Amino acid sequence: MHSISELQSILKNTFDSASFSQNPPELYDPITYTLNLGGKRIRPLLVLTGCDLFHGNLEKAKPAAIAIELFHNFTLLHDDIMDRAPLRRGKETVYKKWNTNVAILSGDTMFALACDYLSRVDPEVLPLALSEFTKTARLVCEGQQYDMNFEARKLVSISEYLEMIRLKTAVLIGCSLRLGAILAKAPATETEKIYSFGENIGMAFQLQDDLLDVFGDEQKFGKEIGGDILSAKKTFLLLKAYELAPESERSELDDCFSDPDLLPEAKIERVKNVYLSLNISQITKEEIGKHFTRALQICGNLNADPESRKVLEVFANDLLKRDF
Ligand code: IPE
Ligand code: IPE
Ligand code: MG
Ligand code: MG
Ligand code: MG
Repeated sequence: MHSISELQSILKNTFDSASFSQNPPELYDPITYTLNLGGKRIRPLLVLTGCDLFHGNLEKAKPAAIAIELFHNFTLLHDDIMDRAPLRRGKETVYKKWNTNVAILSGDTMFALACDYLSRVDPEVLPLALSEFTKTARLVCEGQQYDMNFEARKLVSISEYLEMIRLKTAVLIGCSLRLGAILAKAPATETEKIYSFGENIGMAFQLQDDLLDVFGDEQKFGKEIGGDILSAKKTFLLLKAYELAPESERSELDDCFSDPDLLPEAKIERVKNVYLSLNISQITKEEIGKHFTRALQICGNLNADPESRKVLEVFANDLLKRDF
């Protein structure tokens, strides 16, 4: 099996030689802008990893890798509108730089382009790959809807939150790996396991994203710090804080989220102080650790050679150690 850095370099060449610009420029410029900002590209990397793990032909997995990254970027364009986010990958979000209509339409186009790329995979596995992809796309939308429903709700349970992040984030990570494995014609028992591995890594990944949204460094994270607090997102951090807070801190949180005149910086600062006093950062890291451990157990059961399993383990470990 290739190392992760070898797969990353294959991926870089693949994206460097793909062009998405067409006419009218008003529609395609935001697509080029977004894709050129790069991002971590973990999902297409996982498509190649899933394929390589089961000795598939990487050349044939490239269109699926591009499809998954296009789909992911489509979700980001729309997500930034929904989350009122000003920054992504250290630059202005598309709906801020252009406008909301442009972000909607360029996003839709990326979804269509994703389907086009996916249709180029081996015809023998296309029906399975397509149903995997469309099912995942629908689940991501379900997750995004729960995420928005929860903004307007005061009480959300931790299990509701976990199901919401499974849908909005984890299923796409699982799907990326399974898609690669499907292209390599791996047996269903193995594609199921690799999906579960990815789903658990995805849970940990979103928990970490929630953590970095409060405690990360804006330069490295590339997104506005405190955005989740300003949008009243029901993150693991907030739900845990409500669960653990004594009366005084509970009412401090209530005050922060109910005062329409509170300035954004003050709101972020006060909520963050409650998190600090309750050690929420450490508790979130423990939750991340639980999902990571589950992922490693599943990885250990994969019917793959130990060296390949090690590649997956190291990848997961590096991903969850990152601070961006
Ligand atoms: C952002 O995903 C959306 C989440 C699921 C947290 P990434 O953190 O993978 O974003 P990029 O693609 O690297 O910018
Ligand atoms: C990401 O959730 C889920 C999707 C984009 C589908 P977030 O809203 O937390 O992602 P970021 O933080 O904006 O990247
Ligand atoms: Mg969101
Ligand atoms: Mg967002
Ligand atoms: Mg986030």
